[in-house]
Amino acid sequence: MLTSSPESGERTSDTTKRTFLKALIVFSGVLVLFPLERLSAYLLERKSGTTSYPRVKVASSSELATGQSLLFTYPNKDRSAVLIHLASGDFVAYDAVCTHLGCQIHFDKEPIKGWENRNDNLFCACHGAVFDPKNGDVLAGPPPRPMPKIKLEIDTNGDIYANGYESGLPLYGEE
Ligand code: FES
Repeated sequence: MLTSSPESGERTSDTTKRTFLKALIVFSGVLVLFPLERLSAYLLERKSGTTSYPRVKVASSSELATGQSLLFTYPNKDRSAVLIHLASGDFVAYDAVCTHLGCQIHFDKEPIKGWENRNDNLFCACHGAVFDPKNGDVLAGPPPRPMPKIKLEIDTNGDIYANGYESGLPLYGEE
């Protein structure tokens, strides 16, 4: 007849505790290391400038007459951007979050006081900034840098796609 001694019961209990502790240590390590791995990957991506952006259809070129603009969102639905059909015939697009303090930037054909000789303007009403629609440069006001310029591609059907940025990164709020 087999009987279990009190010592073998203690041994089983010790083994169970050890196994539990090992599992707890491994689990804790995963909890600590996984976020660190994600964080370091994010920081490396930011540092190396390898952030990838989606290719997104913005409009058809036939929808936008010369001198008109279109507000859209890019690279996600929470970030506003503006597409402009310049008088030269070219299409340009910019991140429409002001590089000063993050207000919405608008495009308007109405001249702004002091810029009456211009018949189109990119402006931020918060502190009176004016940007050049041709290249996003700051023409007036406090913004420290130009508007980030979105890379555009126009396919053979005349569809316009946003596909990353040509210049001006990082985006305001992501510095
Ligand atoms: S937030 Fe645009 S000028 Fe200040």
